[in-house]
Amino acid sequence: MFLLFIGVGACEKEPAEVPDVDEDDLTAIPYEPTPYTLSVAVNYPKMNIPASNPMTREGIALGRRLFYDPIMSRDSTISCGSCHLQTESFKDPRGISLGVDGRTGRRTSMNLINVGYNSQNLFWDGRSTSLEEQVLHPVEDPNELDHDWAVLEKQIQNHKDYPAEFRRAFGITNKKEIDQKLIAKAIAQFERTLISSGTTRYDLALKGELVLTEDELEGYLMFVDAVPDLPDAECGHCHAEPLFTTFEFKNNGLENIDNLENFPDKGRGEVTGELWDYGKFKIPTLFNAAVSPPYMHDGRFETLEEVMDHYNSGGHRQANTDPLIVPLGLTEKQKQQVIAFVKTLTDTAFLNHPDYADPNP
Ligand code: HEC
Ligand code: HEC
Repeated sequence: MFLLFIGVGACEKEPAEVPDVDEDDLTAIPYEPTPYTLSVAVNYPKMNIPASNPMTREGIALGRRLFYDPIMSRDSTISCGSCHLQTESFKDPRGISLGVDGRTGRRTSMNLINVGYNSQNLFWDGRSTSLEEQVLHPVEDPNELDHDWAVLEKQIQNHKDYPAEFRRAFGITNKKEIDQKLIAKAIAQFERTLISSGTTRYDLALKGELVLTEDELEGYLMFVDAVPDLPDAECGHCHAEPLFTTFEFKNNGLENIDNLENFPDKGRGEVTGELWDYGKFKIPTLFNAAVSPPYMHDGRFETLEEVMDHYNSGGHRQANTDPLIVPLGLTEKQKQQVIAFVKTLTDTAFLNHPDYADPNP
């Protein structure tokens, strides 16, 4: 301001040309983003990262902070991290999560390990088509963060640190440019870093660095149907290696109903409107399944034993129940062996990875 006044005095002839000082101007802060290359220890398919949202260290750090910041909810009580706990592989041990004012939704939160590999069909019913788009939902969902994007944008624009962080991550020149799209981009960048460490017992056995126990190995052989003299547990067709999901939508026979119209939750059918898709849900990954109960879209099973009893029984049959859901004929011991294998997919390094934790003091 002071300098401008001197300027005005020095050239009195053209006072109208003096620009207003813009208090929201961020251009004094350097914009030198550091590109970030994902380090993937495992032989996964290439992650599809949108050209419009390249990953940078600054963007990831910002997204991580926002993911854990209760500013994201109407009354500043909860954040994304309240329903997606790192120690539970970003699921919620409560089954049906609690939103603002303790409101409940109808489904369980989801495991976010390797979520970046599934950027086409997010949510149990696949209604969101990108991580950037997905973020827009929980913020305004009355049973989740129950906030208003316009208000949240203002809160973040007026925050003491965020404008500078958005400048460093996205090169904005004025804090008023902070909007839902940039907030979503930052969070999506953080989510893409949530990747398997490649150090589970399963991974180490694949690399020949460890030998699975006999139970784990037999469980694996049944899981992937590898040998004729053990029963086929069918799991690996849907929970397929290397990500332990094909990301398809299937009816795995949970509901005891006789008519496709009667599914209590229509799942994929709610999105496509096709009766044939009623009661189908996205196949979830099994990485960290052993440490992230309860199971299924409604959290109906508390233990892997209950899950195995369900599959072993052949579930309930409707016209669209997947043909792989059949009575398996596994003995008690064999059910335990499949569970022993599922436990080899526990990624302790992921669950304790310091870069995924809440950065806020
Ligand atoms: C109140 C609890 C709650 C909060 C808060 C919450 N989520 Fe979720 N999240 C859920 C539930 C429940 C689902 C599954 C909803 C469904 O399928 O209908 C879900 C699903 C997701 C998915 C889809 C994963 C997949 O594999 O398809 C992503 C990604 C996600 N949440 C990220 C976020 C982010 C980012 C935030 C913060 C902006 C957030 N969540 C806030 C409960 C929550
Ligand atoms: C036809 C495909 C299919 C087969 C075969 C299959 N699953 Fe699933 N699995 C699914 C689907 C779909 C879901 C989610 C269903 C829902 O929530 O409504 C699921 C959910 C699960 C879950 C819950 C994970 C979570 O985060 O909630 C576990 C655990 C599981 N399956 C283990 C297995 C095991 C072990 C086998 C083999 C005995 C198996 N599945 C066979 C499709 C399949």
